[in-house]
Amino acid sequence: SFIDQFLDLKQLELRLSQKLGITNCLVVAGDSDLQPEVIAEMGKLVTNTLKTLLPHGLNIIAAMGGTTMAQIASCLTPEIGKERELLFVPARGGLGERIDIQANNVCARMALCTGGKSRSLYVPEQVSESTYRPLLKEPAVQEVVTLIKKSNAVIHSIGTAKHMADRRAMPKEIVSLLDRGHAVGEAFGYFFDEAGQVVYKIPRIGIQLEDLASMKCVVAVAGGHSKAKAIVAYMKHAPKQTCLITDEGAAKAILKE
Ligand code: F6P
Repeated sequence: SFIDQFLDLKQLELRLSQKLGITNCLVVAGDSDLQPEVIAEMGKLVTNTLKTLLPHGLNIIAAMGGTTMAQIASCLTPEIGKERELLFVPARGGLGERIDIQANNVCARMALCTGGKSRSLYVPEQVSESTYRPLLKEPAVQEVVTLIKKSNAVIHSIGTAKHMADRRAMPKEIVSLLDRGHAVGEAFGYFFDEAGQVVYKIPRIGIQLEDLASMKCVVAVAGGHSKAKAIVAYMKHAPKQTCLITDEGAAKAILKE
C-alpha cells in the first residue's frame, strides 16, 4: 500500500544517512537509471529542502552542472524565492561539459524558475591550464569568483568516474591516472577512489572541497543504481550537513555495498 511504501522509504532514508554518515537523506521511489521521470520527483524534494534550509533575505547559491542538475533546475519553483533574494552562480568554472549542461546554464534556468537572478562565469570549458590562468585575472571573472566565495548554499551532483572522464574527453594521461588510482566517483571536479581519497582534481576556480565545511546548506542530488559506488566514495569526503536527495535504486544498491 501507499503507507507501506512511505514507511519503507523513511526506513531507507534512516539507514542511508547512518551508512553515509550525513545528517539527512531523502529517498524517492524508483530508479532514475530505468525511469527518467524519477528525477522530477527528486526535483520536488530539492525545492522543499531549499525552502526549509535557506534563510530569508539574500542567498547566493552555487550550483554545479551535469544532466541531473540541468533537470533539477527546471523543477525549482517560485516558492523558494518567497521572502528571499536568490542569486545563482556556477560553483566551478570550466569543467569541460557540453553547453546545455554547463553550470552557467543550470544557474540561468534556476533563476528563471525561482524568479531569482544568476551570473555566468565566462571561462571556456575546453582549455589548457596555461590558457585558463590569465583569464582569471579579468575583472568580470574576478567579480563572479568573489560572489562564489560568498555563497551560503551549494547544490551539486555526483557522477561515476568513468562516465565523467569520457564525457569530458579528458586527456589519456589523466584517464590512465584515474584507472591506476581506481577512481570510482566524481563531484566538484574531484575524482575519488572507494576509500574516498582524492585521486585527481581538475585545476579550476570556484568552490573547493574545503570550502564546503563552513556552508550551512549543502544539497547533493544523485540517483540511479549505477551511481551507488560513486555516492559512497564522495560521501566519505562530504561535509556532515550534506542533505543527499536520491532514489530507491541508488539507496538499495548503496546499502548492499
Ligand atoms: O560536471 C559537473 C557534474 O556536476 C559533476 O561534478 C558530476 O559528477 C556530474 O556533473 C554529474 O553528471 P550527471 O548528472 O549527468 O550524472
